[in-house]
Amino acid sequence: MPRLWNRLSLRARLLLPMAAMVIGGLLLGGLALQTFSPEQFENENAQGARSAELVADALNAALAAADNPQQTLDAFAGALRMPAAIAFVPSGSERQRVASDTYRGGVPAWFTALLQIPELGSTHPVEIRTAHVGDIVFRPDLSAEVLEKWVGFLVIAASSAALMLLAGLSAYFTTGTALCPLAQLGAGLTRMRNGVYDIAIPLAGPPEIRKSCAEANELAATLKRLSRDNRDLLRKLVAVQDDERRELARELHDEIGPLLFAIRANATALSDPDAEGPPDPGSPAHGILSATEALQQANRRVLEGLSPVYVAELGLTASVQAVLRNAQSQAPGLGVTSRIDPRLNVLDGLLSQTTYRVIQEGVTNVLRHAQATTMGVMVTVNGGQIEIEISDDGIGLRQNLTFGRGLTGMHERVRALDGELHLLREQGRTIVRCRLPLDHAVVL
Ligand SMILES: Nc1ncnc2c1ncn2[C@@H]1O[C@H](COP(=O)(O)OP(=O)(O)OP(=O)(O)O)[C@@H](O)[C@H]1O
Ligand SMILES: [Mg+2]
Repeated sequence: MPRLWNRLSLRARLLLPMAAMVIGGLLLGGLALQTFSPEQFENENAQGARSAELVADALNAALAAADNPQQTLDAFAGALRMPAAIAFVPSGSERQRVASDTYRGGVPAWFTALLQIPELGSTHPVEIRTAHVGDIVFRPDLSAEVLEKWVGFLVIAASSAALMLLAGLSAYFTTGTALCPLAQLGAGLTRMRNGVYDIAIPLAGPPEIRKSCAEANELAATLKRLSRDNRDLLRKLVAVQDDERRELARELHDEIGPLLFAIRANATALSDPDAEGPPDPGSPAHGILSATEALQQANRRVLEGLSPVYVAELGLTASVQAVLRNAQSQAPGLGVTSRIDPRLNVLDGLLSQTTYRVIQEGVTNVLRHAQATTMGVMVTVNGGQIEIEISDDGIGLRQNLTFGRGLTGMHERVRALDGELHLLREQGRTIVRCRLPLDHAVVL
C-alpha cells in the first residue's frame, strides 16, 4: 500500500482523499438516515395515531349514549367522507389497506427501503351495542415526509459533488501551477550538472518554489564562478608547468649541452693526440667518450620530452610532423596516416602547446601500449574549434583504465582550455578525440 501511494502523482494524492471524504460523508449520511428516520416517522405521526384512538373512543361513547346510534354513525361517517389520515370504514365494505401510504413518485425504492419506515397505521373498532359496525382507521400519508428526506439527501449529495468538483479543479490547477515550475527547476538542475550555468531558471509558481528556483540560480552563479576560477587556475598551472619545463630545457640545452660537448672534445684530445680515428676501445678516454655520448643522447631525449622547442621555432604543423616521423622511426612496421590542417601555425602559445602535447602523448601511448599495425592522426580546424583525433587498430583500452601521468596531464591541459577529451573504441579502433575551442583572439 505505501508503495502504491508512493507511485501516485501529486494530483492523485490530493484528489483521492477528497473523493474518499465525500463518499465517506454520503455513507455516514445514509447511515444516519437509516438510524434516526424510523423514530422520526413515529414521533411525527404519534399525534395522528393518538387522535384516531380518541376519535374511536369518542364515537363509541356517542353511539352508546345515542337513541338512534345508526343515525349518529351515518352522520359521523358523512362528516368524515373527505380523504384524510383518519377515516371511518364500515364493516362489510371492501377492506382498505391499513398500511401507511408512502410516496413513491420520483423517490427511488432503495431510498424508501433505506429509511426503514415503520408500520404506523392503526385500526380502532366501532361498535353499536357490542355489534361491530366498522373501524376508525388511521392511515398516515408519509409521501411529503419521504419526499422531504429525499430532497434533503439530494441537496447534500449534489452540494458534496459540487464541492468535490470545485476542490478537485482547484487542486488540479494549483498542482499544475506548482508542478510546472518544479519541472523547470529539475531541468535547470540537470543543466547545472552538465556544466551549463548561463540559462536561468524562471522564477514562477508559489513563493516556496520561487524561493528554491532563486536559490538554484544563485547556486548556478556560484558554480559558474568556481568553474571559471578552476579553469583559470588550471590554465595558470599548465602555463607555469610549461614555463618551468622550458626553463629546465634551456638550462639543459645551454649549460649541459656545451659542457658535454667540451668533455667529448677533451676526451678525444686526451687519447693519443697523434693517433687518427677514435681512441682504443678499453682505454679510459674511450670510456669517457662513450659515457659522454650516452649522456648527450639522454640529454636530447629529456629535452624533447621537456619542451617542444619545435612548436615555437618550426610552427605546429612541422612539429607534429616531426613527432610522426619520430614515431615512424621508432616503429618502422607501423602504418602511419595523417591529416594536419596547415592553418594550425597561427594558433596562440597555449593552444598550440596543448595541441602538440595531446598529439605527442597520444602517439607515445599508441607506440607503448596499443600493439597496433596502423595509426591515424588528424588535426583539423572546424567551426571555431580544433579537432584532434589519434586512432589505432590495437588492443584497445583496458577494462579498468587508470590514468597515468600522460592522460592526466592531457586531461588537465584540455580542461584548462575549456575543451573536451574522449577516449573511445569505435569499429575496432581506439580513438583519443579532443576538441579545443579556438581562442576568441584567434580567427582562422
Ligand atoms: N592507444 C592505447 N591503446 C591501448 N591502451 C592505451 C592506449 N593509450 C593509453 N592506454 C592505456 O591507458 C593507460 C594510461 O595511459 P597514460 O598515458 O595516462 O599513462 P602511461 O602511458 O601508462 O604512463 P605515462 O604516465 O608515462 O604516460 C596506459 O597504461 C594504457 O593501459
Ligand atoms: Mg602515456
